[in-house]
Amino acid sequence: MPNSDWFAHDRFGMFVHWGLYSLPAGLWQGQKMKHPYAEWLQASEHVPRPVYRRLTESFNPVAFNAESWISEAKAAGMKYFLITAKHHDGFALWPSRVSAYNVMDATPFKRDILGELAAACKRHEIKLGFYYSHWQDWEGTGGDICSVHMANEEYVHPSEAEFAAYWHGKCLPQVSELLEQYDPWFLWFDTWSKESFRYITEARQDELISLIRAKSSKCLVNSRIQFLAPSARVDFISTMDNTFPSAGFAKPWETSGTLNHSWAYHAADYQWKATRQLLQYLVSNAALGGNYQLNVGPMGDGRFQAAASRRLRDIGSWLQVNGESIYGSSASPLGKPSWGRITARPLPEGQTRLYLHLWEVTPGTALQVNCAAPIVRAQVLESGQPVVAELGRDGICLHLPGELAGLELPVIALDLATDLLKPKS
Ligand code: GLC
Repeated sequence: MPNSDWFAHDRFGMFVHWGLYSLPAGLWQGQKMKHPYAEWLQASEHVPRPVYRRLTESFNPVAFNAESWISEAKAAGMKYFLITAKHHDGFALWPSRVSAYNVMDATPFKRDILGELAAACKRHEIKLGFYYSHWQDWEGTGGDICSVHMANEEYVHPSEAEFAAYWHGKCLPQVSELLEQYDPWFLWFDTWSKESFRYITEARQDELISLIRAKSSKCLVNSRIQFLAPSARVDFISTMDNTFPSAGFAKPWETSGTLNHSWAYHAADYQWKATRQLLQYLVSNAALGGNYQLNVGPMGDGRFQAAASRRLRDIGSWLQVNGESIYGSSASPLGKPSWGRITARPLPEGQTRLYLHLWEVTPGTALQVNCAAPIVRAQVLESGQPVVAELGRDGICLHLPGELAGLELPVIALDLATDLLKPKS
């Protein structure tokens, strides 16, 4: 089994959805497409295959700059980067020898997008991973298409023989290429419904994971390889889209979430989440021992939208002063208090540091922490301001200083003289 410690430690990564669908950007023939996710255009609007394919002719994102994407991820405090090497439409963002339906052979852009990103990730010490749509592939080579979107004879479920041809002729060889050419740290596969059982059987999960293990000693595999019945061999759990669980999992795990609603760039999607909300998602998952993968949908010309960049910068500046409470932290040993979320880390000599993330602060009031351990000290993480703390009959009582009102989602570091993280025997 590859080592997944880095993944659990890193906590925060960037997801990118980018491809041919980023050009129409959620609009088709002057109308907003039916499916809210822009990357679903082909299926949602039943775009005939030859018509969809013609998007390749205008795919020329000259403003794409791997260095600036990865710098933005780094400045946002993200430690790893994940991109749709091939989404459901079947189009590859690298010069694949397996299928000419790729950026080098089929578009005027003719650049190895994944190669440029891999080089930038190396420069910035960001770990690279790939989304690869293994179950659905709408190119017409035998991959499946989710039946919600089937209403014409062009898009139907493939026969077993057709799917087997796709599996051996495109899916497995392309996954091999990704491993050989870019040496990714993880692969992110995608299923979510029972419908995929017919094609992504236990035997196929095993075949795919065995191929990955044979080619890489480090590449992790996510549970959406078969969401409802993942192989015991998967390395980390992926929840459903934007789903923040109420309890953690035995394996490392993550929630992938959107900045607005669509994953890929959608020109008429204005549902941007506030930075505060995004930070709360990051903190809530960390408090349960999980990761957050925040998605950006770059525009068809290769740039990030200003609304995306601003949120990334704001999250990054919060993490710059509070990152200690997130990276390498442990889940809360004290559950979920009403006032916010807790993460923790062991300190030398059997002490524990609790990070108290305060959702709402009423300065001048007292905050109860349900714990009877002797207090070593308490301070505001960002400013170092001491916080008066007392151990009483009802646990620890902190007197919140008035200055907290000026801080965005403040964190109090509370050091206790007891090892609260010791596994219970
Ligand atoms: C869903 C969508 C897909 C998106 C993914 C990200 O599976 O079908 O478009 O890539 O979620 O989690």
